[in-house]
Amino acid sequence: MTSIVIYPDPEALAHGAAEHFSACAAEAIARQGRFSVALSGGSTPRALYEKLGTLPYRDQITWAKVHIFFGDERCVPPDDSQSNYRMAEQTLLAKVPLPAANIHRMHGEDNPSGAAAAYERELREFFGSDAEEDESSVARFDLILLGLGEDGHTASLFPETPPVGETRHWVLANFVAKLKMWRLTLTPVVINNAREVLFLVEGESKAARLEEVLHGGYRPTELPAQIVHPEEGETRWFVDRAAASQLKEVP
Ligand code: 6PG
Repeated sequence: MTSIVIYPDPEALAHGAAEHFSACAAEAIARQGRFSVALSGGSTPRALYEKLGTLPYRDQITWAKVHIFFGDERCVPPDDSQSNYRMAEQTLLAKVPLPAANIHRMHGEDNPSGAAAAYERELREFFGSDAEEDESSVARFDLILLGLGEDGHTASLFPETPPVGETRHWVLANFVAKLKMWRLTLTPVVINNAREVLFLVEGESKAARLEEVLHGGYRPTELPAQIVHPEEGETRWFVDRAAASQLKEVP
């Protein structure tokens, strides 16, 4: 099931996303005693993370039962200005009472393929599917946050790159030629097994691409965000009015 909510501006979007994150956490913790969430990078989620790191969410969410993962990471050290971990750490992770063991960082500073394999092992250990051959028990996140790049990428699934079509590995290293940099990314195997995926998209610059992704022809190699469609999960889009300005069908 896919749904879209249009907010008047980025502030309202961040507030709506914080409320939803808090509700997802409470539901998961009540249901299973913990909440597993993969954070997205880039600039859009910054305002959400800042909200979650302040009242009321700082006190409202049972952070000791929240496990923070990452949907993707740049292959840079954790204190690098490009690091998704660094942005999350500054805006949220350092502000809330999260046990260190609950923060599952992708090691962007390590060898890319080795870091990807290590992160997959960490996912298998956390989600209880250690057996490599046990393909039936793919990691199932309670929530995966995603953004949308102007080229239609999401996480670090970039157009015309192999991880977009991955059907076995959960985490892969991806050399993004146009950025001249290595990235680590969850693959569609894990993303499409999530209970819920929440895209946060804002700004006029994303408007044309958002319309293409949502209502254009299915061509995930060129528009990797289209590969995201959890069979047994929700796909939600929280967008601001500027990003929604070219949507032909508005809910
Ligand atoms: C990253 C993100 C990436 C991001 C989009 C949108 O590491 O950059 O994971 O997929 O979500 O590029 O980025 P903005 O929010 O900065 O537009």
